[in-house]
Amino acid sequence: MEASNKKRSAAKAAMEFIEPGMTVGVGTGSTVNFLIEMLPEIRNKINRVVSSSEVSTALLEAHGFNVSTLNEVGDYDIYIDGADESNNRLQLIKGGGGALTREKVLAFAARRFICIIDDTKLVGMLGSFPLPVEVLPMAQAMVALAMSKSTDMRGQPIWREGFITDNGNHILDVHDLQISDPLEMEARINGIPGVVTVGIFAERAADILLIGGDNGVKEIRNIGICAPRGWVNS
Ligand code: A5P
Repeated sequence: MEASNKKRSAAKAAMEFIEPGMTVGVGTGSTVNFLIEMLPEIRNKINRVVSSSEVSTALLEAHGFNVSTLNEVGDYDIYIDGADESNNRLQLIKGGGGALTREKVLAFAARRFICIIDDTKLVGMLGSFPLPVEVLPMAQAMVALAMSKSTDMRGQPIWREGFITDNGNHILDVHDLQISDPLEMEARINGIPGVVTVGIFAERAADILLIGGDNGVKEIRNIGICAPRGWVNS
Protein backbone atom coordinates (compact mmCIF):
# COMPACT_ATOMS: atom_id res chain seq x y z
CA MET A 1 0.00 0.00 0.00
CA GLU A 2 1.24 3.49 -0.80
CA ALA A 3 2.34 5.74 2.07
CA SER A 4 -0.41 8.25 1.23
CA ASN A 5 -3.10 5.60 1.72
CA LYS A 6 -1.55 4.57 5.03
CA LYS A 7 -1.52 8.21 6.15
CA ARG A 8 -5.14 8.62 5.08
CA SER A 9 -6.24 5.54 7.03
CA ALA A 10 -4.43 6.75 10.18
CA ALA A 11 -6.11 10.15 9.83
CA LYS A 12 -9.51 8.51 9.42
CA ALA A 13 -8.95 6.44 12.55
CA ALA A 14 -8.15 9.61 14.51
CA MET A 15 -11.57 11.04 13.66
CA GLU A 16 -13.14 8.44 15.96
CA PHE A 17 -11.49 10.05 18.98
CA ILE A 18 -13.29 13.35 18.42
CA GLU A 19 -16.34 13.47 20.68
CA PRO A 20 -19.27 15.90 20.53
CA GLY A 21 -18.42 19.37 21.83
CA MET A 22 -14.66 18.91 21.68
CA THR A 23 -12.16 21.59 20.76
CA VAL A 24 -9.68 20.07 18.31
CA GLY A 25 -6.05 21.06 17.81
CA VAL A 26 -4.86 20.47 14.26
CA GLY A 27 -1.22 19.77 13.42
CA THR A 28 0.68 20.30 10.19
CA GLY A 29 1.80 18.09 7.32
CA SER A 30 0.62 15.73 4.63
CA THR A 31 -0.94 13.25 7.10
CA VAL A 32 -2.91 15.95 8.88
CA ASN A 33 -4.02 17.33 5.52
CA PHE A 34 -6.06 14.14 5.07
CA LEU A 35 -7.64 14.82 8.46
CA ILE A 36 -8.48 18.39 7.49
CA GLU A 37 -10.20 17.11 4.35
CA MET A 38 -12.35 14.76 6.45
CA LEU A 39 -13.17 17.12 9.32
CA PRO A 40 -16.15 18.75 7.56
CA GLU A 41 -17.91 15.34 7.81
CA ILE A 42 -18.08 15.81 11.60
CA ARG A 43 -18.35 19.59 11.69
CA ASN A 44 -21.40 19.43 13.98
CA LYS A 45 -19.43 17.56 16.64
CA ILE A 46 -16.64 20.14 16.80
CA ASN A 47 -16.82 23.09 19.16
CA ARG A 48 -13.70 24.97 18.06
CA VAL A 49 -10.46 24.33 16.18
CA VAL A 50 -6.97 25.64 16.85
CA SER A 51 -4.11 25.31 14.39
CA SER A 52 -0.35 24.74 14.55
CA SER A 53 0.62 26.66 11.41
CA GLU A 54 -0.41 29.26 8.88
CA VAL A 55 -0.67 26.50 6.26
CA SER A 56 -3.10 24.42 8.32
CA THR A 57 -5.07 27.53 9.26
CA ALA A 58 -5.53 28.39 5.58
CA LEU A 59 -6.63 24.82 4.80
CA LEU A 60 -9.07 24.76 7.71
CA GLU A 61 -10.53 28.07 6.61
CA ALA A 62 -10.84 26.78 3.06
CA HIS A 63 -12.91 23.92 4.51
CA GLY A 64 -15.21 26.37 6.26
CA PHE A 65 -13.80 26.41 9.80
CA ASN A 66 -13.23 29.51 11.88
CA VAL A 67 -9.87 29.00 13.56
CA SER A 68 -9.58 30.10 17.19
CA THR A 69 -6.34 31.15 18.82
CA LEU A 70 -4.89 29.14 21.68
CA ASN A 71 -5.23 32.21 23.87
CA GLU A 72 -8.98 32.07 23.26
CA VAL A 73 -9.40 28.37 24.08
CA GLY A 74 -6.75 27.80 26.80
CA ASP A 75 -6.25 24.13 27.61
CA TYR A 76 -8.39 22.00 25.37
CA ASP A 77 -9.53 18.48 24.48
CA ILE A 78 -7.56 16.82 21.72
CA TYR A 79 -4.56 17.49 19.49
CA ILE A 80 -4.03 15.45 16.33
CA ASP A 81 -0.76 15.63 14.42
CA GLY A 82 1.69 13.61 12.37
CA ALA A 83 5.36 12.94 13.12
CA ASP A 84 8.58 12.24 11.27
CA GLU A 85 9.58 9.41 13.62
CA SER A 86 8.11 7.67 16.67
CA ASN A 87 9.62 5.11 18.98
CA ASN A 88 7.51 2.57 20.84
CA ARG A 89 7.31 4.88 23.87
CA LEU A 90 5.50 7.37 21.62
CA GLN A 91 8.38 9.84 21.85
CA LEU A 92 8.62 11.68 18.56
CA ILE A 93 10.72 13.66 16.15
CA LYS A 94 8.65 16.41 14.57
CA GLY A 95 9.30 19.53 12.53
CA GLY A 96 9.99 18.20 9.04
CA GLY A 97 7.48 20.80 7.91
CA GLY A 98 9.02 23.44 10.17
CA ALA A 99 5.99 23.95 12.42
CA LEU A 100 7.52 22.31 15.50
CA THR A 101 7.24 25.19 17.96
CA ARG A 102 3.52 25.81 17.58
CA GLU A 103 3.01 22.05 17.40
CA LYS A 104 4.76 21.60 20.72
CA VAL A 105 2.69 24.34 22.31
CA LEU A 106 -0.56 22.82 21.06
CA ALA A 107 0.49 19.32 22.15
CA PHE A 108 1.34 20.62 25.63
CA ALA A 109 -1.99 22.39 26.00
CA ALA A 110 -4.08 19.39 24.94
CA ARG A 111 -5.50 16.87 27.37
CA ARG A 112 -4.96 14.15 24.75
CA PHE A 113 -2.39 14.00 21.93
CA ILE A 114 -3.08 11.59 19.08
CA CYS A 115 -0.22 11.04 16.66
CA ILE A 116 -0.94 9.68 13.18
CA ILE A 117 1.80 8.12 11.07
CA ASP A 118 2.42 5.52 8.40
CA ASP A 119 4.33 2.43 9.44
CA THR A 120 7.66 3.54 7.92
CA LYS A 121 7.97 6.11 10.72
CA LEU A 122 8.00 3.70 13.65
CA VAL A 123 11.67 3.26 14.62
CA GLY A 124 13.70 1.55 17.32
CA MET A 125 15.77 4.65 18.08
CA LEU A 126 15.02 8.25 17.13
CA GLY A 127 17.57 10.12 15.02
CA SER A 128 17.69 8.71 11.50
CA PHE A 129 15.40 11.54 10.48
CA PRO A 130 17.42 14.80 10.72
CA LEU A 131 16.35 16.51 13.92
CA PRO A 132 14.77 19.95 13.29
CA VAL A 133 15.73 22.72 15.71
CA GLU A 134 14.09 26.15 15.47
CA VAL A 135 16.60 28.90 16.29
CA LEU A 136 16.66 32.66 16.49
CA PRO A 137 18.20 33.88 13.20
CA MET A 138 20.96 35.81 15.03
CA ALA A 139 21.97 32.68 16.97
CA GLN A 140 21.90 30.20 14.09
CA ALA A 141 25.67 29.88 13.57
CA MET A 142 26.38 29.80 17.32
CA VAL A 143 23.82 27.05 17.97
CA ALA A 144 25.15 25.04 15.01
CA LEU A 145 28.68 25.36 16.38
CA ALA A 146 27.60 24.37 19.89
CA MET A 147 25.88 21.27 18.57
CA SER A 148 28.66 20.15 16.25
CA LYS A 149 31.33 20.72 18.93
CA SER A 150 29.48 18.75 21.58
CA THR A 151 31.46 15.53 21.92
CA ASP A 152 28.55 13.41 23.10
CA MET A 153 25.97 14.78 20.66
CA ARG A 154 28.05 14.45 17.49
CA GLY A 155 25.33 15.84 15.23
CA GLN A 156 25.84 17.59 11.91
CA PRO A 157 23.60 20.67 11.83
CA ILE A 158 22.58 21.88 8.38
CA TRP A 159 20.82 25.22 7.95
CA ARG A 160 17.49 24.81 6.11
CA GLU A 161 18.40 27.61 3.76
CA GLY A 162 15.64 29.89 2.54
CA PHE A 163 13.10 28.59 5.05
CA ILE A 164 11.56 30.97 7.61
CA THR A 165 9.19 29.60 10.24
CA ASP A 166 5.77 31.08 11.02
CA ASN A 167 7.52 32.70 14.00
CA GLY A 168 10.17 34.38 11.83
CA ASN A 169 12.97 32.01 12.82
CA HIS A 170 15.41 29.63 11.13
CA ILE A 171 15.65 25.83 11.22
CA LEU A 172 18.74 23.69 11.67
CA ASP A 173 18.35 20.03 10.65
CA VAL A 174 20.74 17.96 12.72
CA HIS A 175 21.95 14.83 10.93
CA ASP A 176 23.63 11.68 12.22
CA LEU A 177 22.14 11.61 15.71
CA GLN A 178 21.39 8.49 17.71
CA ILE A 179 18.95 9.64 20.36
CA SER A 180 19.15 6.96 23.03
CA ASP A 181 17.70 9.21 25.74
CA PRO A 182 15.12 11.52 24.12
CA LEU A 183 14.10 13.23 27.38
CA GLU A 184 17.68 14.16 28.20
CA MET A 185 18.50 15.28 24.64
CA GLU A 186 15.33 17.39 24.46
CA ALA A 187 16.21 19.22 27.66
CA ARG A 188 19.86 19.66 26.68
CA ILE A 189 19.21 21.13 23.23
CA ASN A 190 16.43 23.36 24.56
CA GLY A 191 18.98 24.69 27.04
CA ILE A 192 21.31 26.12 24.37
CA PRO A 193 20.78 29.89 24.22
CA GLY A 194 19.14 30.87 20.93
CA VAL A 195 17.22 27.60 20.56
CA VAL A 196 13.50 28.27 20.35
CA THR A 197 12.39 24.62 20.22
CA VAL A 198 13.91 21.26 19.45
CA GLY A 199 11.77 18.82 17.49
CA ILE A 200 12.04 16.02 20.07
CA PHE A 201 8.65 15.45 21.69
CA ALA A 202 9.56 13.33 24.71
CA GLU A 203 8.60 15.48 27.69
CA ARG A 204 5.20 15.71 26.03
CA ALA A 205 5.04 12.44 24.07
CA ALA A 206 1.91 11.29 22.27
CA ASP A 207 -0.82 9.57 24.28
CA ILE A 208 -2.04 7.45 21.39
CA LEU A 209 -0.18 6.45 18.24
CA LEU A 210 -2.21 5.40 15.20
CA ILE A 211 -0.04 3.63 12.63
CA GLY A 212 -1.39 3.12 9.13
CA GLY A 213 -0.04 -0.04 7.52
CA ASP A 214 -0.83 -2.65 4.88
CA ASN A 215 -3.28 -4.42 7.17
CA GLY A 216 -5.12 -1.43 8.57
CA VAL A 217 -4.41 0.84 11.51
CA LYS A 218 -2.55 -0.29 14.61
CA GLU A 219 -3.06 1.61 17.86
CA ILE A 220 -0.43 1.97 20.60
CA ARG A 221 -1.39 3.64 23.87
CA ASN A 222 1.08 5.41 26.10
CA ILE A 223 0.15 4.00 29.46
CA GLY A 224 1.92 5.29 32.52
CA ILE A 225 4.96 6.78 30.82
CA CYS A 226 3.61 10.21 29.98
CA ALA A 227 0.22 11.14 31.34
CA PRO A 228 -1.94 13.52 29.35
CA ARG A 229 -1.30 17.02 30.59
CA GLY A 230 -2.44 20.53 29.93
CA TRP A 231 -2.22 23.81 31.72
CA VAL A 232 -4.49 22.62 34.49
CA ASN A 233 -4.90 19.20 36.07
CA SER A 234 -8.12 17.76 34.81
C1 A5P B 1 5.46 19.58 10.69
O1 A5P B 1 6.32 20.54 11.19
C2 A5P B 1 5.84 18.23 11.17
O2 A5P B 1 6.04 18.10 12.53
C3 A5P B 1 4.90 17.16 10.68
O3 A5P B 1 3.94 16.85 11.64
C4 A5P B 1 5.69 15.96 10.39
O4 A5P B 1 6.78 16.40 9.62
C5 A5P B 1 4.90 14.92 9.65
O5 A5P B 1 4.66 15.34 8.33
P1 A5P B 1 3.95 14.43 7.28
O6 A5P B 1 2.59 14.09 7.82
O7 A5P B 1 3.89 15.29 6.05
O8 A5P B 1 4.79 13.22 7.06
